[in-house]
Amino acid sequence: MSSPSQQPAPRSEVPEQIRKLLDGSLDAAVVLDANRRPLYWNAAYQQYSGLRPRQLEQAADEGRCCFHVFPIEVCETLCLGRRALTTGRPVRMDEIRARRGDGEEIVLIVTATPIENHMVIETYRDVTADARIQRKYKVLLERERTAKDLLEAKVQERTQQLERANDELKRTQAQLIHQEKMSSLGRLVAGIAHELNNPINFVYGNVEFLGRYFQDLIDLVDLLEQAPIESDLRAKIEKKKREIEYEFLRADSDKLLKSIRAGAERTAAIVRDLKAFSRVGSGQLVETDLAEGIDTTLNLIAPLLKNRIHVHRRYSPDAPRVYCHAGHINQVFMNVLTNAAQAVRGEGRIDIVIEKGGAGWARVKVTDSGPGIAAEIRPHIFDPFFTTKDVGEGTGLGLTISEGIVRNHGGRIFVDEKGPGATFVIELPVRPPTRPPKTEVTEA
Ligand SMILES: Nc1ncnc2c1ncn2[C@@H]1O[C@H](COP(=O)(O)OP(=O)(O)OP(=O)(O)O)[C@@H](O)[C@H]1O
Ligand SMILES: [Mg+2]
Repeated sequence: MSSPSQQPAPRSEVPEQIRKLLDGSLDAAVVLDANRRPLYWNAAYQQYSGLRPRQLEQAADEGRCCFHVFPIEVCETLCLGRRALTTGRPVRMDEIRARRGDGEEIVLIVTATPIENHMVIETYRDVTADARIQRKYKVLLERERTAKDLLEAKVQERTQQLERANDELKRTQAQLIHQEKMSSLGRLVAGIAHELNNPINFVYGNVEFLGRYFQDLIDLVDLLEQAPIESDLRAKIEKKKREIEYEFLRADSDKLLKSIRAGAERTAAIVRDLKAFSRVGSGQLVETDLAEGIDTTLNLIAPLLKNRIHVHRRYSPDAPRVYCHAGHINQVFMNVLTNAAQAVRGEGRIDIVIEKGGAGWARVKVTDSGPGIAAEIRPHIFDPFFTTKDVGEGTGLGLTISEGIVRNHGGRIFVDEKGPGATFVIELPVRPPTRPPKTEVTEA
């Protein structure tokens, strides 16, 4: 480490113990007096200085500050030594950039330790290699962090994509199930309506003749009563009249026939509504009066409303007819009106408005006097299978299906947030976009 020829002339002030300590140190070390004159230094210091031993000794003898001997480029070390002397405490500084005597740039950890009140030991540890490794490590760490951030962003994006795809899949699945159900139900309803149509036409058509025939028979009986009849036969006739309650039968038959006619008319109307509701058509878009769809649907849900909910309709005369799959749009009305009727507990009202919704658009608004939709569930009501109803009461598909149908017609359905009840708004373009709707049309 140090050879006697390299050693500076020992200054008597530097204690021997300190000198030994310095000689054994691998770090460059120098003892300076209060004026920063080098008093003693070790071999590593000699080597760092880039000077030959004589030159170094000469510099020391001339009382030159170690800076001339050891050209550290920053002045902090000077302050460091002074600070150590003034405070009487060791001081340390990291990452000091310096230039060695041979011109090479190095990074140092410098310490200054005061001794004997007027001297200071300064040590210089070369940490250039460590600093380089640390820099490289930092760069690698930074790269790794960037790569990790990128990966996380990608994973997040992918997760969102998957969630969206999953959501879309659920909707499609729900729609497919519903379409299948509606398709079979539509066929069934149309079939039943068709089958009922003939017999009810017989009843409705024949009840008229039956009334006339009956009246003819009554007239005949009245005439016969005026004819001279033997008393035996008269007694038998009177007896029969009493048995069959002739007077009552005669008076009541008219009422009876009227109620048969009313019943037949009602059944015929239901059949008409069923046919109109399932609206089995060619699969083409049909010019449709939305008011007709609403009225038909209201007739079908009449038992839900009866004596409980007052329905108020305002159909604006300038509301346009729209080209749509009427059966599907009726399905939307059915879902929204059923929800409204179910939301109204006890007595209440439902307001229905059909109006022009801007150029080339029609708008239907359904407002109920129920409790409205809480803000926290509002974002979920169109989600598949979202329901607040009891098991068996709701599947949570009504609004999902409705949203799909309206979207496929190029329109939109949303909740108007103004309370107090709930208002559903359905907007439909008069002519849907040319793209064929995804929803299959129920055929019979
Ligand atoms: N008019 C309304 N007033 C208050 N809440 C409503 C109204 N309409 C819909 N909701 C809420 O939205 C939820 C979802 O409605 P949606 O029609 O999709 O399903 P559902 O009525 O619960 O079941 P389904 O229609 O399948 O029988 C309902 O459970 C209810 O919480
Ligand atoms: Mg519903």
